[in-house]
Amino acid sequence: MTIQQNISLKNYNTFGISVNAKRFVAVTSVYELQQLLKVEKDLFLLSGGSNMLLTKNIEKLVVHLDIKGISIDREDANFAYLTVNAGEDWHEFVLYCISQNYGGIENLSLIPGNVGTCPIQNIGAYGVEVKDTITKVEGLDIETEQLMSFSNEACNFGYRNSIFKNSHKGKIILTSVGFKLTKKDHKLNTTYGAIETELTSKNIQKPSLKDVSDAVIAIRKSKLPDPKEIGNSGSFFKNPVISETQFLELQKEFPKIPSYKISDTEIKVPAGWLIEQSGFKGKRFGDAGVHEKQALVLVNYGNASGEEIYQLAQKIQKTVFNKFGISLEIEVNIIQ
Ligand code: EPU
Repeated sequence: MTIQQNISLKNYNTFGISVNAKRFVAVTSVYELQQLLKVEKDLFLLSGGSNMLLTKNIEKLVVHLDIKGISIDREDANFAYLTVNAGEDWHEFVLYCISQNYGGIENLSLIPGNVGTCPIQNIGAYGVEVKDTITKVEGLDIETEQLMSFSNEACNFGYRNSIFKNSHKGKIILTSVGFKLTKKDHKLNTTYGAIETELTSKNIQKPSLKDVSDAVIAIRKSKLPDPKEIGNSGSFFKNPVISETQFLELQKEFPKIPSYKISDTEIKVPAGWLIEQSGFKGKRFGDAGVHEKQALVLVNYGNASGEEIYQLAQKIQKTVFNKFGISLEIEVNIIQ
């Protein structure tokens, strides 16, 4: 474990924001992390850097979580139980599962980030959320340096939400995630419109895990920018949930407003539509911009600062609020 000085974080965050870490250390085991916590607790944790917007140099010790390893704890005829260390790349893990015929996370193909951060915001896409396959989450308690284990229920998962974003924020460093995946009778979720269309276009009637994963990859590639080419953090905002009363009022003025009913009284509206209707889709302000194919994604065309991206986000929030009376909540962690 060597502490390095003045390291650029540009390659450690998918937005590609150029800020420096005063001190930087890569940690490759739970033991190393425990040793580090004994001498220093006020750390800045950096995993895949896929859900953060850095707006300034980091004064705290930056800890890059690079703990690798996948282990199969047990298998029976129907299920495989795996423990995956936090530093494993999420998409590589999805591909590994598909190669082993383990089902459950194929719809979550190509999501940027590491396994250790997937529970924090309960990553989700194309009708599947990671919470449905998670059995447990382990992490070090920063205060006591003890390893803690959280059952699925204890994580209190919700839409892009968990205790690790709320009561346990800044208290636990996630070190591994347990999964329960199917070995047969896979419950494929192809109900999401674009997946059906993609499979039909390829004339696939009985899709395999790989077929679903390939379909998701094709859809994501057609809509979402690859962070290796254009810096971004996926959806920048959450899809807002509004009351049915407010929705019905809006529908009078905007008859084409898309919606998903989520309860008897609540409606989810796609933020991408609200942003597009507010005139921002494909717009560019210097090197900060709104993606041309998916308005929910803010992008860095090269040298945008975190502050410029954040200002654009605030401009979008203001315009959307003035037009629709809806407050967009930022989904990405803004580091100020
Ligand atoms: N739409 C527009 N214009 C746009 C974008 C979207 O009008 O520029 C409207 C369309 O009506 C479309 C609807 O929004 O039918 C939904 O769009 P999409 O299917 O692209 O999904 P989303 O709600 O915008 C969510 C997730 C994505 C996930 C997709 C697919 C959130 C915040 N985002 O986006 O997650 O990939 O569904 O399941 O829930 C991420 O979190 O980083 C992410 C990419």
